[in-house]
Amino acid sequence: MTNFDIVPNRRNSNSIKWLRYPKDVLPMWVADMDFPAPKPILTALHKAADHGVFGYEMPTPALKETVAARMDNLYGWKIKPEAVVAVTGIVSGFSVAARIACTPERGMLVQTPVYNEFHEVKNNIGIPQLDAPLIKHVDGNILSYEIDWDNFETQVKKAGMFLLCNPHNPLGIIFSRKELLKMAKICIQNNVLIVSDEIHSELLLDGNSFTPLAKLSAEIARHTITLIAPSKTFNVPGLFCGFAIITDKDLRERYEQEVNHLRMHVSSAGLIAAETAFSGQCDSWLKELRHYLTGNRDFLVEYVAENMPNVRLTIPDATYLGWLDFTQTGIVGSPYEFFLQNAKVAVSEGRIFGEGGEGHIRLNFGTSHKLLEQGLERMRKALRSL
Ligand SMILES: Cc1ncc(COP(=O)(O)O)c(C=O)c1O
Repeated sequence: MTNFDIVPNRRNSNSIKWLRYPKDVLPMWVADMDFPAPKPILTALHKAADHGVFGYEMPTPALKETVAARMDNLYGWKIKPEAVVAVTGIVSGFSVAARIACTPERGMLVQTPVYNEFHEVKNNIGIPQLDAPLIKHVDGNILSYEIDWDNFETQVKKAGMFLLCNPHNPLGIIFSRKELLKMAKICIQNNVLIVSDEIHSELLLDGNSFTPLAKLSAEIARHTITLIAPSKTFNVPGLFCGFAIITDKDLRERYEQEVNHLRMHVSSAGLIAAETAFSGQCDSWLKELRHYLTGNRDFLVEYVAENMPNVRLTIPDATYLGWLDFTQTGIVGSPYEFFLQNAKVAVSEGRIFGEGGEGHIRLNFGTSHKLLEQGLERMRKALRSL
């Protein structure tokens, strides 16, 4: 059994999360967890360190077979190992896709509020971004979001690529089969490439299940690039290794050519971690992690309901990210600034997620129960002073 209540001191590492703010600030922002990676990954990395040579390495056929086998084991999705392309990360993975699918005339469609890095692509690549904001609903203090189909259909006509975030960061939504089929149909009808960022697909809360979009039909698979990685699930994002699964040969060749042009070589440590993570050796750890994160999610939801009047939030089905709405609380200006100044808690500023993010924050609950409670206590006290 892993004791997720014990988290190491990360201030003595190079952690972005723990070093960006002064020591009296509790960081609950960037999406990595405070837990050590599972034992089998650490053992494999120790072994590599004992070997001592960190030369150039490559994604071997065996690694691609491991990735393909995991898709089969988890979802019954049968892909050929050659459909797997190693990438340095998922952000670079979707940026490469935008380079091959978008032009200054045909931009990239996203569903806001959505992961901040999605919003960087337009300037990095020099393409327009098309927003199809999700419609927010409020029931008591619980938020939910749904797709605005009319807007989606209008925007898709101007797009070269649709970047789907499923499960969704920061909203924690797992889109239904019906929604996925409809989004895919509209994209295919309009000749728009679908890039499905499924980095959070194994971070399922409760007993939720997940199906990769491209598994839904061979036709959808032909029009889709699926992006997955062990990095969020097994907490090894600093090792930078992800995978694009591309079943269509022509599309894959164009993608691989761009990956090669950009010299996107994956680090040897990233390859080792990915092989171990996807081999199944860490699955019992993952089961325990999901249970722990579900407990943290439930605690967050209950805590907010009981202690933070007028604060609304989502109940995420996946991820370790909460999405909280402070628009009814009387905070003047950005709640991110408010909590940084008054609670000494660093969360993620809602505005960086695009339209619909103003007045909201994203809170990372991928930490010990104790630190989560400490952060929420600080926030509660700051709200009381309003
Ligand atoms: C939806 C999503 N995609 C991609 C990433 C980051 O991917 P990488 O670190 O592999 O570039 C994150 C990290 O939070 C994310 O939430």
